[in-house]
Amino acid sequence: MTHIAVLGSTNMDLVAFVAKAPQHGETVTGREFRTIPGGKGANQAVAAARAGATVSMIGAVGNDSFGTRLRSTLEHSGVETDHLRTTEGSSGTAHIVVDDEGGNAIVVIPAANGTVDHLAPGDEGLIASADALLLQLEIPLAAVLAGAEAARAHGVRTVLTPAPAQPLPLELLNATDLLLPNEHEATTLTGRTDPGAAALALLEEVPEVVVTLGAAGSLYAARGAEPIVVPAPQVTAVDTTGAGDTFAGTLAVALTEGRPMPDALAWAAAAAALSVQRAGASESMPYRSEIEAQYTS
Ligand code: RIB
Ligand code: NA
Repeated sequence: MTHIAVLGSTNMDLVAFVAKAPQHGETVTGREFRTIPGGKGANQAVAAARAGATVSMIGAVGNDSFGTRLRSTLEHSGVETDHLRTTEGSSGTAHIVVDDEGGNAIVVIPAANGTVDHLAPGDEGLIASADALLLQLEIPLAAVLAGAEAARAHGVRTVLTPAPAQPLPLELLNATDLLLPNEHEATTLTGRTDPGAAALALLEEVPEVVVTLGAAGSLYAARGAEPIVVPAPQVTAVDTTGAGDTFAGTLAVALTEGRPMPDALAWAAAAAALSVQRAGASESMPYRSEIEAQYTS
């Protein structure tokens, strides 16, 4: 098994399922409320563990009941949590409305994730021992950058999901091996609305870029090569929350196992397609056997 380290957030997702999301100032009656472990970092960790890697999570939960459940859910998924700190105060939460189209709107309250603004003793050694480091933007940028630079110093491949969308310092892009934005994030980073044009612009700072295109699959661009588009299986979405994280976690597993990029992208697309057909972020992530059954090269 390959070893993947994840530096990022853990959130308890507080999810309201409703036919149609309310407009500003409107109140609607929903169908169901659920608390489901999430957070972009933890989601990527669970996706990678279920896909068959050894996974270690670096981050923080609060000393509340959500924190206890977030930690135990990761452990039950096979994610090692020795580097997941428990801090005084609340765990991160994500307040999510999921509609009947499977789309969502999310407010994230960082809480404990906001304390992850540096690498703690031992974190760098863990990163050095991994085959890849997965990063996202739900913890302070200072820690994301420190993680990327530690990985770079030890020759560990970094995969950065630049979500939630925000402009990024050049030094972070330059410490990234593979940048994995969705279309919206690619536009935020470059000002280009066309994913191919955005990917080409990003190649000036990062050697490899994958723009995820939702149901249309993904676009891969690398310096000195023609961009390729790898399609995704066509499915009916119930809840797309965490689909990008599923893609990131499973892509990392495929790449660290040595699959060529087009196969790795098809594998990740199969995993993401499985996840959108089920509700919840971490709970909807597929196991390796399910991915293999769905995957067609
Ligand atoms: O990427 C999906 C995640 O983003 C959710 O699990 C939620 O926690 C939000 O942070
Ligand atoms: Na899902």
